[in-house]
Amino acid sequence: MSAQSSTVVLKAAMAVSGLVMVLFLLAHMYGNLKVFGGRADFDGYAAHLRTMGEPFLPYAGALWVVRVVLLVSVLVHIYAAVTVWLRARAATGGRGGWRYQSSSGRRGVQRSYASFTMRWGGVVIALFVVYHLLHLTWNTIHPGGASDSPYERVVGGFQVWWVTLSYLVALLALGFHLRHGFWSAFADLGANTSVTRRRRLNEAATAVALLVTVGFAAPPLAILFGWVKR
Ligand code: HEM
Repeated sequence: MSAQSSTVVLKAAMAVSGLVMVLFLLAHMYGNLKVFGGRADFDGYAAHLRTMGEPFLPYAGALWVVRVVLLVSVLVHIYAAVTVWLRARAATGGRGGWRYQSSSGRRGVQRSYASFTMRWGGVVIALFVVYHLLHLTWNTIHPGGASDSPYERVVGGFQVWWVTLSYLVALLALGFHLRHGFWSAFADLGANTSVTRRRRLNEAATAVALLVTVGFAAPPLAILFGWVKR
């Protein structure tokens, strides 16, 4: 069996690409909190993302390095996830993640909590990222009004209740995905070797998932409740 086709290699690739994305999420979440500092702070931060690394790097050079690393991570993560998903499906006669015998499931089997949150959570997050880029990066859709200022787009957008609600739904899916994914990543890389390590890994996964979910949810909620204004 070639290296790429081994399920162990695919899981390791999924773990490493996932951990790269967790680092991005922590930095992105921290950056978003600058919205509490007001317009100059937030827009200054958005401008800084483009000028960092100058004059060593061209304008937006460092940002493009981050974008390429992220894009490669997303593609590796999705390729590995879909391959492992299809493999599980083929190995179980088309039943995929429905792996527990149960009389309460219509098909006589039940899916596991993890297979549901990872697979369908992943699909929800992928759809959300496209919607989010159209909204806040490419400025293609502007539910709260168009503006050249990132601060205005963020604050205007989250003043619209359904925009905040849609972000919160995606953040909940992200929280569950991270709770299990962070744990699996370290377990697949060989860290789950004793009862103590397993407990620590569980605590770390819960802490990271909560931090990311609550940290990302704070700006939209504060804006919707009128604590942060245009
Ligand atoms: C309430 C939560 C969030 C807010 C307020 C927010 C805000 C923003 C803003 C303002 C930008 C544009 C930055 C700029 O170009 O100056 C951006 C870009 C981006 N966000 Fe978010 N974001 C949130 C959650 C997320 C989540 C949960 C993810 C991933 C799952 C994510 C992934 C991205 C990506 C990939 C970019 C593009 C970076 C680039 O290529 O320039 N964001 N976000």
